Amino acid sequence: MTQFPPINPKLPRLWHGADYNAEQWPPDIWPEDMRLMTLANFNVVSVGIFAWTALEPEEGCYRFEWLDDLLDLLAANGKYAIVATPSGAKPAWMAAQYPEIRRVRPDGIRESQGGRHNHCFTSPVYRTKTQAINARLAERYRDHPALVLWHISNEYSGECHCALCQEAFRAWLARKYGTLDALNHAWWTAFWSHTYTDWSQIEPPSPIGETSVHGLTLDWKRFVTDQTLDFMLNEIAPLRAISPDVPITTNFMGTFPGLNYWKLAPALDVIAWDSYPLWHQNIPDAEHAVTVAFVHDINRSMKGGQPFMLMESTPSVTNWHPHAKLKRPGMHRLSSIQAVAHGSETVQYFQWRKSRGSSEKFHGAVVDHAGHEHTRVFRDVAEVGQALEKLTPVLGTTVPARVAIIYDWENRWALEAAQGPLHDGDKGYLAACLDHYRALWKRGIPVDVIDMEQDLSRYDLVIAPMLYMVRPGVAERIGAWVNAGGTFVTTYWSGIVDENDLCFLGGFPGPLRALLGVWAEEIDALTPNDTNRIAVEPGGAPGLAGEYTARDLCELIHAEGADVLATYATDFYAGRPALTVNRFGQGWAYLVVSRNEQRFTDDFLGGLCAELGIRPVIEADLPAGVSVQMRGDGERAFVFVMNFNPQPVEVALDRRGYVDLISGQDVASSLALEPYGVRVLEQTDPA
Ligand code: GLA
Ligand code: ZN
Repeated sequence: MTQFPPINPKLPRLWHGADYNAEQWPPDIWPEDMRLMTLANFNVVSVGIFAWTALEPEEGCYRFEWLDDLLDLLAANGKYAIVATPSGAKPAWMAAQYPEIRRVRPDGIRESQGGRHNHCFTSPVYRTKTQAINARLAERYRDHPALVLWHISNEYSGECHCALCQEAFRAWLARKYGTLDALNHAWWTAFWSHTYTDWSQIEPPSPIGETSVHGLTLDWKRFVTDQTLDFMLNEIAPLRAISPDVPITTNFMGTFPGLNYWKLAPALDVIAWDSYPLWHQNIPDAEHAVTVAFVHDINRSMKGGQPFMLMESTPSVTNWHPHAKLKRPGMHRLSSIQAVAHGSETVQYFQWRKSRGSSEKFHGAVVDHAGHEHTRVFRDVAEVGQALEKLTPVLGTTVPARVAIIYDWENRWALEAAQGPLHDGDKGYLAACLDHYRALWKRGIPVDVIDMEQDLSRYDLVIAPMLYMVRPGVAERIGAWVNAGGTFVTTYWSGIVDENDLCFLGGFPGPLRALLGVWAEEIDALTPNDTNRIAVEPGGAPGLAGEYTARDLCELIHAEGADVLATYATDFYAGRPALTVNRFGQGWAYLVVSRNEQRFTDDFLGGLCAELGIRPVIEADLPAGVSVQMRGDGERAFVFVMNFNPQPVEVALDRRGYVDLISGQDVASSLALEPYGVRVLEQTDPA
């Protein structure tokens, strides 16, 4: 395994910091900010994120002096700066002078000025203005001792339906399809007389227009991602040209539906995301921790295991969760270190000083309106900073995952569009991915979360729940990897549509049929109170025994060469296959035919990992709600033990030779963790 270089060699530590919106405050408060940042054990802050008007109060009239002073002050105080490009919020003067930079909504109305994250991605004016200010930032600060990273814009999102965007969409379609005939075929537009006879007739999906052509819906989402990427590349161009040594990131938003982040990732040097977990709300923390872990793992997987950044998190509450529940003692530290456990090399907050007015005045911040360090939140933050110092040895290590789960944005979009066999949302796609992820999380087995385009050769087990869409080449790649010895698990409702959202003809699961050795003839959608049961054949099925409950979706398949490991126990399809495995070359391809209770997935994946020799980080039964993760570089190994329960737990360890990295103490054969407690253990004598 390799060691990854630090984000920037200028700051070879775990980064601890926050968004610092200094332009909202009089500069005479900045020296006090420096004193407090030192007390909070900060080494970095993000500046200038929404500072366009402060930097360019009138067209072409730039004011960088305040940012010069701020960066100098940071450098003088031993702090580093992530400098943002300001495009996330357009200035009022610009919106007034160039109305075309304001977005047009799906219903055709152009927005007034206000809010943020709402500029047109196509507008040549906005692109020119963005490049101009970015070039000036790069020229002015490329050699500044404080600068460690460019933060491009902020949380790219949304879409614009203006004439420029629509024209760009049609040009994108013409490049993709070449002819209208090809487009009409791919979108199946003969349906309801939707055939386009001229390119100009094509409009984006809209609640007052077209919503029924799924190929259009899918291509529009692809276009929005591509246009956002194109805008981002336009922003990045002057930065790369003028400051080639300064790395670049932008902040993602987890499983945000609007953008396929895998397409943006290659343009960035490091992946960053903003994490705002719903701790202590309606979902038990130990359950919610699974979802948070899953998203951390997506972000780590986006660059082949390269450590990522936790760019934003709240030090206390948000102003947008349904209930602004305070983090219970220990949770701030646990949640911050959870990110590091999954591969983050930063813990950063929104924001440093709590806003005095406007919409974020009650959003949590490190420094509250009281203005001093004598608060619970400040102490919690400072303590995380201390812990991160002690965790410096984990820098450059990653999570050694031999298992991958495929979670794919386009697959999700297609499932969201589909009408049937269930009607809501993504048809339980994310939940199905999480069910499989949870089974591995509970056992302490590290997982990568990838899209369907990734190279599989580094994995022994790949799980693709509901691989509904199969894009060209994907079945072939999975097949070749299984043929060479990989073990593949997929489920019901896989191999249904191609990249255009057209159903595969000739029998499901389409291109996966030979690999799985089955033909899926029908699928039964159960009502919420309805269940079926599946009965496992004695022996044969890894980890499984007896009967399990099935809900929601039960596919009716025929084995065409696959072995049947379980069958349905009830209803008219009792006795039909419910779990199959097909020998394919040197490997195995499993099909889970129904959506089953968690116990099934736990037993099955636990058994499968044991058969494949995929060992958990700690070979011991973990108490419920305890997560164990590992980072290493092949030589050193760091084990993170995290208690997401509001009660204390005792965790049995499988070996001696662990040292607590934060306290420096040797650890005995078991670990007593307080409520929301966390320990980071270094293996001093790797087995
Ligand atoms: C997002 C934004 C921040 C801030 C936070 C509040 O993550 O990037 O500017 O508004 O939300 O939670
Ligand atoms: Zn537009």
